[in-house]
Amino acid sequence: MVEETSGPDLDLKSRRNVQDPFPVYAWLRDHEPVHWSESLNAWAVTRYDDVVELLNRPATFSSDRFRRIDERYASQRPAVRAVAEILGNWLVFRDPPDHDRLRGLVQSSFTPKHLESSRDRIQRTADALLDAVVARGAMDFIRELAFPLPAIVIAGLMGAPEEDIEPIKTWSDRLASYLGGAVDARDNFAEASAGVAALVDYFRTLLAERERRPHDDLMSLMLRAEHEGDHLTRDEVVANCVLLLFAGHETTTNLLGNGLFHLLRHPAQAALLRADPSLLHHAVEELLRYDGPVPATVKIATEDVPWRGRTIRRGDIVVPFLASANRDPRQFLDPDTLDVRRQPERHLAFAWGIHFCLGAWLARLEARVVLDTAFRRLPDLALAPGEPRWKPMLFLRGLESLPLEWGSR
Ligand code: HEM
Repeated sequence: MVEETSGPDLDLKSRRNVQDPFPVYAWLRDHEPVHWSESLNAWAVTRYDDVVELLNRPATFSSDRFRRIDERYASQRPAVRAVAEILGNWLVFRDPPDHDRLRGLVQSSFTPKHLESSRDRIQRTADALLDAVVARGAMDFIRELAFPLPAIVIAGLMGAPEEDIEPIKTWSDRLASYLGGAVDARDNFAEASAGVAALVDYFRTLLAERERRPHDDLMSLMLRAEHEGDHLTRDEVVANCVLLLFAGHETTTNLLGNGLFHLLRHPAQAALLRADPSLLHHAVEELLRYDGPVPATVKIATEDVPWRGRTIRRGDIVVPFLASANRDPRQFLDPDTLDVRRQPERHLAFAWGIHFCLGAWLARLEARVVLDTAFRRLPDLALAPGEPRWKPMLFLRGLESLPLEWGSR
């Protein structure tokens, strides 16, 4: 808990708060629900109702951060400009009407009906990855399953070759250190810019190839929209291919890792799930609520907003803490308890409103298949000894590694 006697450590970027942010979230919700954070240079909003209100006001809290904010620094840092030019075309960083146009073009590919056909591919991939380790009795779950599975699935949907997932990981990791809000000393801009440049080159080449030979995949779908006069530029096509690939695996890796970690840390909950696999649906929602892969997002105020005794100024950065909202006792009974029988439908792990995660169904499907398969195939699955290390990031939450062991030893 936060020690009130010595004064709470409110630095959201401190090592301790990044490893375990829940005590500082609780303090902020109770004492300063709209809090100016010096270290973030931004407002932190931590209560459930406030986060929902913020996400419901996209005209006041804009998502267009790369064109509104980072351009201020672009002349000083060419690397920032390179990153901002691509990311400024991502639909997640656009406001209406551009956001609606870009989202409308791809969303039919992410409906539950469309994705049902991915179930077999997910199951086959999970089985193949487990086949490779099952006799060994041990694995690093992140490296050997939670990373490759979502990467193979999204690469397949996009139309990218499966064997490219290793270089894709290297490039995406560079971007993740910037977008994820890494709190270590790396030069995020330079790294992100190298990662983005490589991903852009990669997709330009693949798209040119798809143009000659269209397939039934997302790249071909976007190219058709470009050609059929849906006002989609080639830069937008390339940028949103990078977005889908990036958003489609990094986050899901962390859902699988965080989810399995917490289940194994709570053996009684894991036992409930083993005994009754019909709980899987709610269990995945509960794991998303309890410790989701995206703790916070970033918005920009477009006007002055008086809020809970403070005044957010036009142009200020505002950070809705989804992970804090998901532990708000004003919304969830006994929120710090993991309960796979809970039905936390209104959790905010996938955000809320117009930017609600496009890949939510895909991520849920992957998590259900993987958890079900792991529990079925690995008897006495348990955490290997050792303390978990969370990646030092603010906006993405995931484990560096997750060593597991199973079978009689
Ligand atoms: C557990 C896994 C995932 C989590 C927790 C997650 C979380 C989120 C969140 C919080 C947002 C809103 C961001 C904001 O408003 O700033 C978002 C948007 C988005 N996500 Fe996910 N995501 C996940 C998986 C995926 C997958 C598998 C895809 C697939 C391709 C995906 C694609 C997207 C896209 C395209 C958007 C932008 C939607 C829009 O702006 O309208 N995500 N996601």
